[in-house]
Amino acid sequence: ALRGSIALKAQKPNQRSYYGLQLQASYKVAILGAAGGIGQPLALLVKMSPLVSALNLYDIANVKGVAADLSHCNTPSQVLDFTGPDELGNCLKGVNVVVIPAGVPRKPGMTRDDLFNINANIVKTLVEAAADNCPDAFIHIISNPVNSTVPIAAEVLKQKGVYDPKKLFGVTTLDVVRANTFVAQKKNLKLIDVDVPVIGGHAGITILPLLSKTKPSVSFTDEEVEELTARIQNAGTEVVEAKAGAGSATLSMAYAAARFVESSLRALDGDGDVYECSYVQSDLTDLPFFASRIKLGRKGIEALIPSDLQGLSEYEEKALEALKPELKASIEKGIAFVQKQP
Ligand code: NAD
Ligand code: LMR
Repeated sequence: ALRGSIALKAQKPNQRSYYGLQLQASYKVAILGAAGGIGQPLALLVKMSPLVSALNLYDIANVKGVAADLSHCNTPSQVLDFTGPDELGNCLKGVNVVVIPAGVPRKPGMTRDDLFNINANIVKTLVEAAADNCPDAFIHIISNPVNSTVPIAAEVLKQKGVYDPKKLFGVTTLDVVRANTFVAQKKNLKLIDVDVPVIGGHAGITILPLLSKTKPSVSFTDEEVEELTARIQNAGTEVVEAKAGAGSATLSMAYAAARFVESSLRALDGDGDVYECSYVQSDLTDLPFFASRIKLGRKGIEALIPSDLQGLSEYEEKALEALKPELKASIEKGIAFVQKQP
């Protein structure tokens, strides 16, 4: 399998080398909200990708300097800046992957749902523009509350007549990154080997790490399962409290989002072995959107992976049933937000 790596050295502008093959960096990525806490480090990590030929950065403020700064890195992609609604369309034309971290972050004491009133409108506007200018692109939604913003994006795309459920993704990679880190620490495992699927959604108890499916196979006591599950579910809040009013996770989020972008680009590039967890339209449960492991291909989601949901532990079965009402309500809230608009 061809694996683009953000650690690969650029050979010549617009070229990358892989086992002696010279291949064109040929994908266009847009980041909407690129001057923000996530946007800036994410833009830097995507700038390091050998698969990217154009990196379009959009924000309502401060993006010119970010783009000028990044454009001096001698990696293949050309960096362009776009500011304000008048330039949004041009930012999105011909783009393969659109990443949306635009919106306000939490402060201590807030839930992700408390961000709904502001972020719902931001996501709606940006996805409308994506529908008009790059209807075929993969869309990665980072803005919270993800449990509702992804259904909002789906409704917007449906209204525009361009909804392809295989190409709309809620980014839950950070939950997997955290689960892998915390499990490796707890069980003294080599970090690089650890893989924990995380299913459900991206808020509180809707985040369900399937510790029983950890690879390599490892056993946990009941206390360890409870402690690790709670830590993974509250990890966002852990960062919000540590930042004490200065926002939420940005660096680890940028790392996770860059991984999901790179996986998407590898899939677009024909790698047949790309799997990630993501919050997507799903028929694995009775909920219309659900995070699970997915297989990515050139046309987006090639398959939802049902096997993780089979043979769950009793603890996981109960937690799965317990998360459904909250996740269902968040999905319905997102759908209603778009459908109620005149
Ligand atoms: P931030 O405030 O630092 O940055 C947000 C950026 O969005 C700002 O630069 C702002 O100018 C821009 N913006 C606002 N309205 C816009 C619009 N209409 N169009 C374009 N850009 C606009 O916030 P952040 O820390 O980068 O977090 C962004 C979002 O990501 C928050 O909603 C946060 O909750 C969410 N988040 C999600 C995850 C996840 O795992 N999915 C993780 C961390 C943060
Ligand atoms: C996270 O999980 O870090 C993000 O969803 C941001 C937050 O508000 O916790």
